[in-house]
Amino acid sequence: MLVCICHSVSDKTIKHWVRQQGVTSIRELRQLTPLGSQCGKCVRQAKEVIYDESQLI
Ligand code: FES
Repeated sequence: MLVCICHSVSDKTIKHWVRQQGVTSIRELRQLTPLGSQCGKCVRQAKEVIYDESQLI
């Protein structure tokens, strides 16, 4: 499922970064992707994906 439509970033990709790169925040995520830099509508959902995935590690 695409989380950021503007930059084609999926939940699967975000989960990968949480697990493999230790991403814990939107700020860290934005060092890896331009997610949220256009319309910004994806930021809330991206935060939820980061939070949910980090609970599973
Ligand atoms: Fe992510 Fe627009 S959907 S910046």
